[in-house]
Amino acid sequence: MLKPIFSVLILILTAISINAQQIEILTKGQPTSIRGLSVVNDNLVWVAGSKGTVGKSEDGGKTWEWIQVPGFEKREFRDIEAFDNKTAVIMAITEPGEILKTTNGGKSWNVVFRDTTKGVFIDAFHFNKKGTGYTIGDPIDGTAYVLKTTDNGNSWTREKNTPSLDTGEACFASSGTNIFTKADGSYLFVTGGRNARFHSGGAATPLPLLKGGESTGANSVAVLENGKKMTMVVVGGDFAKDTVATGNCVLISNGVSTLPVQGPHGYRSCVEFLNATSLIACGTSGVDVSVDGGKNWKLVSQEGFHVCQKAKNGKVVYLAGGNGKIARLN
Ligand SMILES: *[C@@H]1O[C@H](CO)[C@@H](O)[C@H](O)[C@H]1NC(C)=O
Ligand SMILES: *[C@@H]1O[C@H](CO)[C@@H](O)[C@H](O)[C@H]1NC(C)=O
Repeated sequence: MLKPIFSVLILILTAISINAQQIEILTKGQPTSIRGLSVVNDNLVWVAGSKGTVGKSEDGGKTWEWIQVPGFEKREFRDIEAFDNKTAVIMAITEPGEILKTTNGGKSWNVVFRDTTKGVFIDAFHFNKKGTGYTIGDPIDGTAYVLKTTDNGNSWTREKNTPSLDTGEACFASSGTNIFTKADGSYLFVTGGRNARFHSGGAATPLPLLKGGESTGANSVAVLENGKKMTMVVVGGDFAKDTVATGNCVLISNGVSTLPVQGPHGYRSCVEFLNATSLIACGTSGVDVSVDGGKNWKLVSQEGFHVCQKAKNGKVVYLAGGNGKIARLN
């Protein structure tokens, strides 16, 4: 009678250890909550977080260099975009909203944009390969707050005629991935709060995600651009109830929204394509992987992370989260 139970136990333990091995913690303990992650190649990783902190590894996460940007020790850097081992832009979200750039590996930072307007709260930015990028912020006077650069973030201007948002509809600053700059230089973004929508080219599409609260809605959009054909996966849910596994993922293909068969196992703040069919999504309650375009998700770890990203020029996937935690997916 004992034997089958024992085999089942072995099977379960093996399954657990396989899953545990998929996420390898590289470092933790730095006093910063990381939400900005930019993986330039398999070895070069930049992160940005609370307490004005930026981290960089040039050896695939074996060693890390940590910087606290002078004068920004109490500020939150919620997103980072790195171009190489010398050049990166970061954002300090509010009061004032500021974008900073380094060209010497983080030794010094120049403020390249500052908006002291009351209520300014910038959430995320994203760049295409030609140096055009957009920053999304919380709406001001009912319209989306959008900044544009065409020179890799050296200069920014506020966009006019941006989409109108509903009362209580806003954007999260949870992982720097709710806005996407298309190859043609236009942008799309997803929202949360009282409404959850997908905005692109002036059109707004409702998303079948949890909505109606302050902590509900879309947090992240992964985009596969193939000429004019866009395949997207949006994740979110309710960050105040991060184990609720409904209304947290939607697939959009050719403008049609469908729900997954088995969604991610909780609120997810970030989603990323690994190739045309595989995806990773992470949140404070765990990490899921899909190998069928987001239709079915498998929980690979209950370790919490805010953000995940595959190397822009490479294949290694890194994750980052609270308490300076950084990991890689094996
Ligand atoms: C940065 O990248 C350049 C070019 O890829 C390389 O030559 C250099 O060794 C790297 N590291 C540092 C610390 O500059
Ligand atoms: C995508 O990645 C998965 C998992 O690594 C792999 O099994 C699959 O063959 C890949 N698909 C393509 C189209 O490359």
